[in-house]
Amino acid sequence: MAEKYIDYETDILIIGAGGAGLRAAIAGFDSGVRVTVVTKSLLGKAHTVMAEGGIAASLGNLDNKDNWEVHFNDTVVEGVYISNWRMAELLAREAPDRVYELEQYGALFDRTPEGKISQRAFGAHTYRRLCHVGDRTGLELIKTLEDQVLHRDIKFFDELYITKLLKKGDRVIGAVGIKLNSGEFYAFRAKAVIVATGGCGKIYKVTSNSWESTGDGLGLAFNAGAELMDMEMIQFHPTGMVYPPGVRGLLVTEGVRGDGGILLNSEGERYMLRYSPKKKELDARDIVARANYAEIMAGRGTPHGGVYLDISHKGADYIKTKLPSMYAQFKDFAGVDITKEKMEVAPTVHYQMGGIKVDPDTTKTNVDGLFAAGEVASGLHGANRLGGNSLADILVFGRRSGLGAAEYTKKATLEEPSKSDIEAEIARVKSYLRDDGRNPYEVIEELSANMSDNVGIIRTETNLQKALIKILELKSSAPKVGVRGDLKYNKGLLACLEIPNMLTAAEAVVRGAMTRKESRGAHARSDYPKKDPNFKKNIIYKKSGDEMKLELRPVPEMPENLKKLVDPEEY
Ligand code: FUM
Repeated sequence: MAEKYIDYETDILIIGAGGAGLRAAIAGFDSGVRVTVVTKSLLGKAHTVMAEGGIAASLGNLDNKDNWEVHFNDTVVEGVYISNWRMAELLAREAPDRVYELEQYGALFDRTPEGKISQRAFGAHTYRRLCHVGDRTGLELIKTLEDQVLHRDIKFFDELYITKLLKKGDRVIGAVGIKLNSGEFYAFRAKAVIVATGGCGKIYKVTSNSWESTGDGLGLAFNAGAELMDMEMIQFHPTGMVYPPGVRGLLVTEGVRGDGGILLNSEGERYMLRYSPKKKELDARDIVARANYAEIMAGRGTPHGGVYLDISHKGADYIKTKLPSMYAQFKDFAGVDITKEKMEVAPTVHYQMGGIKVDPDTTKTNVDGLFAAGEVASGLHGANRLGGNSLADILVFGRRSGLGAAEYTKKATLEEPSKSDIEAEIARVKSYLRDDGRNPYEVIEELSANMSDNVGIIRTETNLQKALIKILELKSSAPKVGVRGDLKYNKGLLACLEIPNMLTAAEAVVRGAMTRKESRGAHARSDYPKKDPNFKKNIIYKKSGDEMKLELRPVPEMPENLKKLVDPEEY
């Protein structure tokens, strides 16, 4: 029997409505083409809001020596020299314009006494560079972009989950999706598709990421033939909540340390003086996260398995003005008054540095018609990301993605997708509705426990082997998952559809971590504790039949004018 679906036609289809997707939508629409945005969640509900402490941009409002060159250097140093230099250059050069533009769009940044945009210190940034709105910067960013999108004739579908990209030959020409709240299927025809679905944090048990971050875009693009890159690079934010269990992993912004918070162990020692005497709490995220982990492992942790973060010495007025969400979060969820008491914190999975490989200027992938922006894309952050560079990333490369895709659509035609491809995909989705299926939540539970237990802050060959065996076992049982009920409002069905993407992401993280036999940035192996110059390379992941193939590729060589900006000893 022919499957029923709704046909929909657009020029650019954007999958994902976080900061990157919305900024791409604005740029695409302002270029004069039809834009449609779909999200499996609701407008404004994205991991963007978890970048709380600020947007990195070298405005130099507090430290007038700051400029794009210093920001560029900080970014590639933090990426331990496997970042794409062109992306780092574009980010550093364009972030200030994107911040001023956001202000013109209506964002209300905190101000200095002279009325300039205020900037706070953040880990491993040479200068105070993070433009902020208290500790709710990501929220302000997304609300502002949302407002801009709603005032344009941009079509928007929420609670719509894209399950497959449609292709004709080697080109992506649209996508199939299911409207989660009605159970209707959609076949989108588009001249260009932008994937902006965010990261895969939910493959871990303890994470700052919300339910949406299941690596959907990674799976969609990988299955369509796109190359992934550097997936082994997972960022552990040093400070997530540890107690009560229901909020374990919830972000405690780096803004707390940027504004003077200190880390203490159970013996009252300010141990960052030992691990990083110069930068202390404001060293790079990987260094602070590993220090927190080491203290906990050494038995100097808190009753709930964290370390202490203390900002109470700054006084109630300062804390409530600068960090209102942190104040409320601890008071409401943990009954802790951070103006008087210490917080308990521990590392939490926060961000994927790797993702879909893109062209720096246009964000085009290696697949014709397919673009990617934001956390789902790779290249900019290399082995580690500076706090605040994610918000700058989604503004700079979200815009570039919209412009790149719009330019592409001017030469591209709308193609008719194969009816049988669409029907086969609808049949696949429906096949998860059955009485005898394996519980999808069991699979997710096992996967995320496996990742947290075996692919954590410190990795070893033995643990990675264990992790891979488990992932392959789950992969073989994934097609057997299923749920009862029907297509409408079926959260279990959505979980069944997300699982293959989560497994693709997890497999890539583990295979990459096994391949990278060194320690670099966020990827730390106790069996290969040193950085190895032979691994100053990117790892590329490609689909070959049902297999995932990996390849080491040299990092593109930096041009001389940029080389001058970085330490030649290190580079
Ligand atoms: O700590 C934070 O506020 C997070 C910022 C970021 O990840 O960019």
